[in-house]
Amino acid sequence: MKFLREPRSRTAAALPLCLLFLKILQPGHSHLYSNRYAGDKVIRLIPTTEEEAYALKKIYHQLKVDLWQPSSISYVSEGAVTDVHIPQNGSQALLAFLQEANIQHKILIEDLQKALEKGSSWRTQRNRRSLSEYNYEVYHSLEEIQNWMHHLNITHSGLIHMFSIGKSYEGRPLFVLKLGRRSRAYKRAVWMDCGIHAREWIGPAFCQWFVKEALLTYRSDPTMRKMLNHLYFYVMPVFNVDGYHFSWTNDRFWRKTRSRNSRFRCRGVDANRNWKVKWCNEGASMHPCDDTYCGPFPESEPEVKAVANFLRKHRKHFRAYLSFHAYAQMLLYPYSYKYATIPNFSCVESAAHKAVNALWSVYGVRYRYGPASSTLYVSSGSSMDWAYKNGIPYTFAFELRDTGHFGFLLPEMLIKPTCTETMLAVKNITMHLLKKCP
Ligand SMILES: *[C@@H]1O[C@H](CO)[C@@H](O)[C@H](O)[C@H]1NC(C)=O
Ligand SMILES: *[C@@H]1O[C@H](CO)[C@@H](O)[C@H](O)[C@H]1NC(C)=O
Ligand SMILES: *[C@@H]1O[C@H](CO)[C@@H](O)[C@H](O)[C@H]1NC(C)=O
Ligand SMILES: *[C@@H]1O[C@H](CO)[C@@H](O)[C@H](O)[C@H]1NC(C)=O
Ligand SMILES: [Zn+2]
Repeated sequence: MKFLREPRSRTAAALPLCLLFLKILQPGHSHLYSNRYAGDKVIRLIPTTEEEAYALKKIYHQLKVDLWQPSSISYVSEGAVTDVHIPQNGSQALLAFLQEANIQHKILIEDLQKALEKGSSWRTQRNRRSLSEYNYEVYHSLEEIQNWMHHLNITHSGLIHMFSIGKSYEGRPLFVLKLGRRSRAYKRAVWMDCGIHAREWIGPAFCQWFVKEALLTYRSDPTMRKMLNHLYFYVMPVFNVDGYHFSWTNDRFWRKTRSRNSRFRCRGVDANRNWKVKWCNEGASMHPCDDTYCGPFPESEPEVKAVANFLRKHRKHFRAYLSFHAYAQMLLYPYSYKYATIPNFSCVESAAHKAVNALWSVYGVRYRYGPASSTLYVSSGSSMDWAYKNGIPYTFAFELRDTGHFGFLLPEMLIKPTCTETMLAVKNITMHLLKKCP
């Protein structure tokens, strides 16, 4: 609906006409996702005592809320922020409960359906032929992203090679872009993945942005040239392809994969709890209906298995593993599964410190950084810990913007600033790797 986003200086008379056309042209799409989020709210709560936290856990469970932050009810604790998406039919009950229990709360999003429709340029015609015309400031569907990858594979064959590392549960190819100047000399590599969690749309948008910047600035920017001459970047723009597709077609707030369970009707596994590193311990759920379900066994998800196999096979090449999530504004490193410092902590710590400063220098956006366990929460079976345990010395997880104002519905207007500042952090980390620090 492109013309809805044009400047408001259009004559007032033209507007109703446009709306009329819209109605005629898109009769079936007057509401996204069949209007399923109408009247839903997102509420921020901070329990101040253990009793309040306990009571909240209970009511969250009863009302089957969709937790935005933290990712599981088990993390709800005294003093910790919880952002909760409550369906329209449960919001009265929750608000009444909060009133009665006198728990402080703030409504972040009054009507989720309205917020969703306001923030997105849904189903605009966004497939463009050339790289310079492609719009990187909108979210792209899986199909659009895959077409874009195929296109770059043809038009930029000097710097890009696209290949598949396997198939998803629903049979979609798992595409990766290998980026870098081809060389006979031995080159080390950096792995980047986006979209392990389906609803975190800013992740795939960043992976696309990174590839675009690499191609557009390779000639003009000495830092980028150095990066692509000395390293290969393996970029997987959408890790959880089935989940991402589902988040476009059915449920905007879907997080997990889409695999079926033999005993429960609930589908999907948390692809960031399914790795073989303290699998299914603290911070992961054994229940298939939970958003942090660890799966029936490690690497049960074909997407996780494919990436793990690829990294295992080439582990000696990889200097860094970077994974992009949202939202929290944090730069995290191991461990996730325990409170402990990693060996050679100071190198990783200083890389994170500098990266966060570089990010801040653009728009003054502050990121916290530190071990995931103490900075975010303890979680077992994560890809970052797994990569670290398998010998990749620099492993990081980014939690991109914001801190809850828009949450998963980060408006497309903020794609550019978010990606611009994140780009600086990624370049800074990469330059750090090329130095001597172990
Ligand atoms: C709200 O509606 C959904 C779907 O219609 C239903 O599954 C759920 O039990 C309802 N919740 C409450 C608290 O009534
Ligand atoms: C990418 O292009 C190369 C040729 O340059 C081709 O061999 C390869 O199959 C292409 N990758 C995909 C996934 O189509
Ligand atoms: C720590 O650094 C030393 C070299 O200073 C290196 O030999 C060792 O492998 C590093 N350990 C880890 C876990 O990266
Ligand atoms: C990395 O960021 C720091 C500031 O935090 C800056 O001093 C340094 O020059 C940056 N390095 C690169 C290579 O961008
Ligand atoms: Zn995530």
